[in-house]
Amino acid sequence: MNKQGRILGLVVAVTAIVGGTMWRGDWSPDAVKTASISVPEFSPRAVAGKRSFDKYCVECHGENAMGTEQGPPLLHDIYNPGHHADPSFRLAAKRGVRQHHWRFGNMAPVPQVSERQVDLIIRYVRELQEANGITYKPHRM
Ligand code: HEC
Repeated sequence: MNKQGRILGLVVAVTAIVGGTMWRGDWSPDAVKTASISVPEFSPRAVAGKRSFDKYCVECHGENAMGTEQGPPLLHDIYNPGHHADPSFRLAAKRGVRQHHWRFGNMAPVPQVSERQVDLIIRYVRELQEANGITYKPHRM
């Protein structure tokens, strides 16, 4: 991982820890929202995507895709479009995901979400990612 990636990873990790502490203590949604991510002005497609995300994905992937105790942040460098391109989102919703990057367990399929809704969710996540410096990096393995 390059230096920028490491720093970003650290920011997300620190944010997760701070967020985790706030869950247990005197948690306030505003404190989390302003923790250290930027929420951009979304395009109309992304606004629609946020609605579906908040319905089908938020319980695990968290407010602003910052993760929860049940699922990873999608606002994370490993989900940049070079490593997890758009089809990986469609597959995740359709077939679920076997645990491989984290220790949250498997993600079950989300059959209630339509393909069109997943496309809008992808738009939403990509715009959030871009606003926080998570952009395409070629995948090396
Ligand atoms: C019940 C919890 C849960 C819900 C609901 C959920 N996810 Fe996940 N998701 C996970 C977990 C856990 C992982 C991490 C698996 C791993 O890599 O270890 C994951 C991973 C992913 C990945 C990475 C896929 C890959 O190839 O590594 C994507 C993309 C994703 N989720 C999208 C979504 C979308 C979009 C929704 C809503 C339609 C959603 N998830 C709903 C738990 C959830």
